[in-house]
Amino acid sequence: MAKLLAVKPLSLLKKEATEEGEHTLRRSLGPINLITLGIGAIIGAGIFVLTGQAAALHAGPAIALSFIIAGITCAFAGLCYAEFASIIPIAGSAYTYGYATLGELVAWIIGWDLVLEYAFGAATVASGWSGYLLSLVEQLGFVPSPSLARFTSTYGTNLYFYHGKWQSDATLAMSMTPTDGLPHVTGIFNVIAFLVILAVTTILVVGIKESANLNSAIVFVKLGVVAIFLVLGIDSLIRHPELLRANWHPFIPPHKGPGEYGWQGVVAGASFVFFAYIGFDAVSTAAQEARRPQRDMPIGILGSLVICTLLYIVVSLTLTGLVNFRELNVAEPVAIGIDKTGVAWGGLLVKIGAVFGLFTVMLVMLLGQSRVFFSMSRDGLLPKWASAIHPKFRTPWISNMLVGTIVAFLPAILPIGRLAELVNMGTLLAFTIVSAGVWILRVRHPDLERPFRTPLVPLVPLLGIVSAFYLMLNLPLLTWIVAIAWLFIGLVIYFTYSIRHSKVQQLSAEGAAAPNRV
Ligand code: ALA
Repeated sequence: MAKLLAVKPLSLLKKEATEEGEHTLRRSLGPINLITLGIGAIIGAGIFVLTGQAAALHAGPAIALSFIIAGITCAFAGLCYAEFASIIPIAGSAYTYGYATLGELVAWIIGWDLVLEYAFGAATVASGWSGYLLSLVEQLGFVPSPSLARFTSTYGTNLYFYHGKWQSDATLAMSMTPTDGLPHVTGIFNVIAFLVILAVTTILVVGIKESANLNSAIVFVKLGVVAIFLVLGIDSLIRHPELLRANWHPFIPPHKGPGEYGWQGVVAGASFVFFAYIGFDAVSTAAQEARRPQRDMPIGILGSLVICTLLYIVVSLTLTGLVNFRELNVAEPVAIGIDKTGVAWGGLLVKIGAVFGLFTVMLVMLLGQSRVFFSMSRDGLLPKWASAIHPKFRTPWISNMLVGTIVAFLPAILPIGRLAELVNMGTLLAFTIVSAGVWILRVRHPDLERPFRTPLVPLVPLLGIVSAFYLMLNLPLLTWIVAIAWLFIGLVIYFTYSIRHSKVQQLSAEGAAAPNRV
């Protein structure tokens, strides 16, 4: 038991951080930089793709309420992340926090669980990216032939050629379009999503410099696209208020089945669009670089969350005002929305912006994945190859290539919705552990120096745990089964490999680390 609770000493963590020299931007980030960092990591496939599906399948126009619920859940967890980040200001994410405070087994569970967030998250975004790219290419007049179209969608998806593009049967069914007589193919493998993950992986192997300027430029592109959508959309709704009257009534469609409309649908929608908020923890990993973490961490985390929540609410209201929610189960809902305004170039612009914007989200996620595996391997919990550094590129290339290749298959064969639900389950579990960790640490080590303190402990961590768990409960049974199977595989690896190779266990044996000591 003592072995499972062995913690990584803080002194060791801080020493490692200095050795690796990961933070060269020491104490240079102010509140605006931190907010920009958060927005850059947050806005992606969630708002550009999943909003449409969530409205069509779960909440209708009330998807705006779903965004509020998911945003509040993130705010509780965000405050807890901020406290951890200020105590252990190292870019290792929840895995490192867990190792330093709750012990090795919990750390392993979080690390393994974070694969669901980062690797599967990148796969989800790749799926969304392929949808926008395909739509862009089709709009430019390059419509795939039937034999090619089979390789633009996941296995088993039925595609029909309608209105100049390939559309899924689910999309056409929602808008009650008859499919009889339409050209038809069945998807085999989404080559576009497969290739984009390989491209991102190649960039990571060769090495990228995380550049604040590039991040700002991409944030600008993403916000620009959202702003154009809002300006054109709201203008159109002001000129055609009858659209609102038709599309927003009823605002919460009557409950139909499990997770389908009604209040239950709103909550199921929140569990689904929760994906749109993932990424704000990127702000917490910059704690060591914040000029005034005490003041600026909450501003960075809450500021980016508040801005994104407001944007998401307004975007979803505008979108469901322009387009009937039943027509939104498409690969490129925001572009469909802008098309309704009648501005011909609008859709094109949205698609180009999404293609650029989503690419960087994949980069950030796979980079996060490689960092977690790197840390776990350095700690002896994963084999050495996972932290092997390429002699020329100075990147963990074997880990990047292995993870990248496996991840590339996910969006090629699995639908975006199923992937997103799994990612949400993994991230919500990390939220509950981090929230519990803050509370436990306050009890066990009340005197620890905390540059940022989560307000109202234990209320805020408790609300973080309860709200995250509530959203988890509203995810489909299949997602639970897959997530539990994933954790089970993780535990088998831990007990057969990691526990025997753990460096902290070796330190423990030498008396340098003790259970529950920080
Ligand atoms: N929040 C990110 C997205 O929506 C992961 O793509």
